[in-house]
This record gives sequence, structure tokens and C-alpha cells, in this order.
Amino acid sequence: MSSILILFATTEGHTARIAERIAQRLRDKRHEVEIHRADAVPAGLEPAGHDGVIVGSSIHYGHHPRFLNALVRRLRTALTARPSAFFSVSLSAGGARPKPEAARRYLETFLRQVDWHPAQTATFAGALQYSKYGVFKRLLMRMIAGIAGDDTDMTRDYEYTDWNAVDRFADEFAQRLKQA
Ligand SMILES: Cc1cc2nc3c(=O)[nH]c(=O)nc-3n(C[C@H](O)[C@H](O)[C@H](O)COP(=O)(O)O)c2cc1C
Repeated sequence: MSSILILFATTEGHTARIAERIAQRLRDKRHEVEIHRADAVPAGLEPAGHDGVIVGSSIHYGHHPRFLNALVRRLRTALTARPSAFFSVSLSAGGARPKPEAARRYLETFLRQVDWHPAQTATFAGALQYSKYGVFKRLLMRMIAGIAGDDTDMTRDYEYTDWNAVDRFADEFAQRLKQA
């Protein structure tokens, strides 16, 4: 049994669901998991007490949230010293017309900026959650979705995540821990 730390950055909550899914999958494999929002990390939290660390974040307006850069830079030594992984959540990674190159570019730009090179990375398709947006964001997202050929019916939400891919990501991480 290993101890795993998961940190996630979310705005509308979908990355939280993905992070929780990974946590549950790892717990089902008898690992101990500690999970926190990356913008509410307990004071003094140190990955040193964990065997592995997973960080995940969604994309808004073309980048991951700035505070995540500072957090990953602060934890970089500890992240580099143990198995670590990063996943990025966006609409580019899924939807009606996926743009996998754009999704990869968000992820790689971030990792380059923070100078962290985890052995395992993934891009997951996110969600269009019209019900969670204010008036301005709803109209903006409908316009963007329309241009991208995505779903524009604002009376419902859309989820594009491939949950099997999320499970495979968790399984691969567990495998890496075993080999570490
Ligand atoms: C205001 C806004 C801006 C977004 N900008 C982008 C973007 O630039 N590229 C992209 O691929 N997805 C973009 N997305 C899609 C989000 O990454 C997607 O909705 C994701 O599921 C959000 O995850 P969260 O609920 O964890 O924040 C945007 C979403 C919103 C609401």
C-alpha cells in the first residue's frame, strides 16, 4: 500500500470529479489517498510524506490557473524526487471536434514554464456546464462552442470525459508506484 497525494485546480468543479475518480480508483487498489484543492492546500503540506503525487488542472482562456505555477514551483523538488503525474482538462481534448494538439500544447507549455517533467501526463476532455455559468459566461461559452462545432443548447450541461481513460491513468500511476 502506498500513500498518494492528489492536488487539483478547478473552476466549475469538473476537474474535482476527475480527481475524485482517480482517488477512488487508487483507494480501491488499497492505496491511501490525500486529496486537496490546489488553491486551498493546508499550510505546511509537504509531499515528502507521500510515495507519489498527482496534480490536475483545467484550462480557462488558454492556460492553467497562475497560482498553480507557483505551487508546482514550490513543490518541484519533492515532485521530482518521487513518481509524479500531471493531467490537464479542457474542451480542446474532447467535444464534437477534438483538438488534441491544442490540448497537448496547453499541458506542455505549463510543464515547461514550471520546469517539471513528470513521466506520466494526460489530457482529458472536460465538460460544458452551462448551468454553472453566469449570464456573460453562458453566452460566451455558447458562442465559442458554436464556432468549435460543440453543443450549444444552454438548457443542459454536457460531459465529454472518457472515464475509462481516467481509470487507465490511475492504473498506470499505481503500476509506476509499484515499480519505483
Ligand atoms: C470561461 C471558460 C473558458 C475556457 N477556456 C478554454 C480554453 O481556452 N481552451 C479549452 O480547451 N477549454 C476551455 N474551457 C473549457 C474548460 O477547460 C472545461 O469546461 C473544463 O471542464 C473546466 O473544468 P473545471 O470545471 O474543473 O474548471 C473554458 C471554459 C470556460 C468556462
